[in-house]
Amino acid sequence: MSSGSLIAQLDAFEQAALAAIRGAADAAALEAARIEFLGARQGKLRDLQALLGTATREEKPVVGRRFNEVKQVVSNELDARGRVLSRPRRPDQAVDVTLPGPRPAIGRRHPLTQTILEFKDIMGRFGFTVADGPEVEDEWHNFEALNIPADHPARDPLDNFFLATAAAGDPQRGTANSATSRLLRSQTSTVQIRVMESNPPPIRICSVGRVYRPDTIDATHSCMFHQMEGLLIAPGTTMAQLKTVLRLFAQAYLGHDVTIRFRPSFFPFTEPSVEVDMSWDSTGSRWLEIGGAGMVDPNVLRAVGYDPEQVTGFAFGLGIERFCMRRHQVPDIRYFTNNDLRFLRQF
Ligand code: DAH
Repeated sequence: MSSGSLIAQLDAFEQAALAAIRGAADAAALEAARIEFLGARQGKLRDLQALLGTATREEKPVVGRRFNEVKQVVSNELDARGRVLSRPRRPDQAVDVTLPGPRPAIGRRHPLTQTILEFKDIMGRFGFTVADGPEVEDEWHNFEALNIPADHPARDPLDNFFLATAAAGDPQRGTANSATSRLLRSQTSTVQIRVMESNPPPIRICSVGRVYRPDTIDATHSCMFHQMEGLLIAPGTTMAQLKTVLRLFAQAYLGHDVTIRFRPSFFPFTEPSVEVDMSWDSTGSRWLEIGGAGMVDPNVLRAVGYDPEQVTGFAFGLGIERFCMRRHQVPDIRYFTNNDLRFLRQF
């Protein structure tokens, strides 16, 4: 065989081997290429080596040198590719455990929830424990025991959310059966009755929750809102103590520039009764009603089995939304229930 054709075969071998090595995608493919081209028993280089003996004496140095060179080049390439394949993959393709993970979106408490928690906290500092009552109430707790008789306008079926239970009377005709009809409570004063029914005096509780009234919805009215009820029963309770508690409460939540004022009013469950206003700003020229209050009516004390000669007490009910609106300058009560994240994220 001529040296030209031997050299050509070595060149072809080199090209094919380098292409196979560079194209090996993993260690197994690289090993297959090694066996095919450099394998000691059946590799293609071994076949070429067998042909070296056919070269003439003059050709031998040239062909031999090229043979060694090709062998070296191919095994170098094999080693290099082996190192590349055994290297850890580039960081952008692998998991880098030192990178911070994707941050889960963390929500926040609803502004009213924040307000409620703060209210309970403030009342707790004044020594009031938290009591709870159901939102679906009977007429005894929502009206009767609170000294609201059957013919009282507050019991008008059109002013309450009576439930259409099978056992109920006919609310449309105003003949709801007190023993069985149920309604969504219209006030948290219900909890006063529940607490006094199952606890002897003295009592010092507050209760926070939703109340329901079929009001026309506007910027300051909603058919569902929140109230905080307060009740204190002890001998010798006075109206002055009531006013002090409400003033301290309002100042604890809103700051010291807020003023409280009482206006004579009427509630069936208190005597005397007042409506409570707070100053809207520091000029004192604008007032906002925040709730009602008064000395617990003897009829209420009797209804729960207390002796009005032995104990006295005060009670109050405050609208929670109004406090939150004043503190954060929220212009419309509907923002609280619109579920607009642009609003909610501000709290
Ligand atoms: N329950 C009354 C209302 O919803 C508010 C109220 C007034 C609560 C006087 C009281 C109270 O405890 O003593 O309008």
